[in-house]
Amino acid sequence: MARLIFGRRCTFRRVVCGLVCSLIIFQIYSFIVRIYVEIGKIKRNSLPGFHPLLHELVEPEGLTLLPPFGFRDPDKVNLFDEFLNQSSLLRNIFFPDHAAFVDPIDPRKDLDNGSLYYYPGRIWLDTDGHRIEAHGGGILYDERSRTYYWYGEYKNGPTYRAGGMGVARVDIIGVGCYSSKDLWTWKNEGIVLVGEEKNTTHDLYKLNVLERPKVIYNDKTGIYVMWMHIDDAAYTKASVGIAVSKSPTGPFEYRYSLRPHGFDSRDMTIFKDDDGVAYLIYSSLRNKELHLGPLNEDYLHVTNVMAKALVGQHREAPALFKHQGVYYMVTSGCSGWAPNEALVHGAKSMLGPWETIRNPCMGANAVFRIATFFAQGTFVLPMPGGIPGSFIFMADRWNPSNLRDSRYVWLPLTVRATEEWYNGFPLKSRINEKHLIMEGLLKIIDYFPEE
Ligand code: GAL
Repeated sequence: MARLIFGRRCTFRRVVCGLVCSLIIFQIYSFIVRIYVEIGKIKRNSLPGFHPLLHELVEPEGLTLLPPFGFRDPDKVNLFDEFLNQSSLLRNIFFPDHAAFVDPIDPRKDLDNGSLYYYPGRIWLDTDGHRIEAHGGGILYDERSRTYYWYGEYKNGPTYRAGGMGVARVDIIGVGCYSSKDLWTWKNEGIVLVGEEKNTTHDLYKLNVLERPKVIYNDKTGIYVMWMHIDDAAYTKASVGIAVSKSPTGPFEYRYSLRPHGFDSRDMTIFKDDDGVAYLIYSSLRNKELHLGPLNEDYLHVTNVMAKALVGQHREAPALFKHQGVYYMVTSGCSGWAPNEALVHGAKSMLGPWETIRNPCMGANAVFRIATFFAQGTFVLPMPGGIPGSFIFMADRWNPSNLRDSRYVWLPLTVRATEEWYNGFPLKSRINEKHLIMEGLLKIIDYFPEE
């Protein structure tokens, strides 16, 4: 009897224990399942494919037109914010990671298996396997050595904000130079104009600003002349700087800075015309208008001739080119490191009158076109091989959270003669993005005749 009762008790306890255990196991099981489901959700959502704004990038015209800079609804997240937001899930679309670099030496390492295309936004390596540092740059084709030289801001230093809250910046390190025979493989020629570490009164003192360096060759003096934007960290000096060298690979000797024609000068470029006359083009009056003026014969000064263009239009980052006697200029709006809409302007004479033609970007979708493919122009290079109307539009996809990791966007730009003319300018001069979304492919190698 006692055993029986004990036995029954034992069975009863076992049943209760069993139930409790099953309940606990069930709870643990559902907890684990819930975690898996959540992880799954997180993973799914972290794929750009699930980003709520992705459709704006991939749908052909999927854009609810973005209001211009300064007129945005601060409560509404848009693609520009996503672009600038370092932790955005779309980040990798704009700034593909290191696995997707372009290796010109071994294109097989390229994701697309040996294709010799240049993909805008991917990291571009030099022949030593290091990231090319030539931002806000320009290219000189040196007839004497039959070599291309790419000069630009060498920004391989930490990004920080001037005074803790100013514009994102990198201290002046200098001007980087790379050489190439094919515009594809670039050899690092070093820093050809070096920043100043100690002398606080020097224009190139590291805490100042050196931007958008451009180099031209003076056939009469045999000197390579570099012009650049020189400023202080607060962008109040607003001057141009001039440096010279006997060799395209430097070292360049810094001469002085000046305020051209007595005006403030911020974003700038220089352009050498077919007749050897070179021009300085700069944003002035706090970027309200552009000024253009010829340099003197040795290219070391401006003359007192100056014309104004795009008055009141607030344009910057000028990049000039010439086609069939017409001058063209691509400019950006003024929104710091953030992208905005490019415009192309045309003139029959360098000194104007300049007329605005249109946004030259085509292809991809409206959001890319309105953001210049999330880049800002810096230079236009005639496509090698003398194909009429074919140019390369060089732009910077700035990364204000890490400026050295800003990417290069090179796009084919074609001026097409059409029957549609607007005030004497062809309507169809356009920067042509051949591929959907970011992958504007520029096949450079094809343009070189077989050796
Ligand atoms: C841009 C300009 C760049 C750089 C930047 C600093 O407007 O084009 O060259 O100066 O501002 O915020």
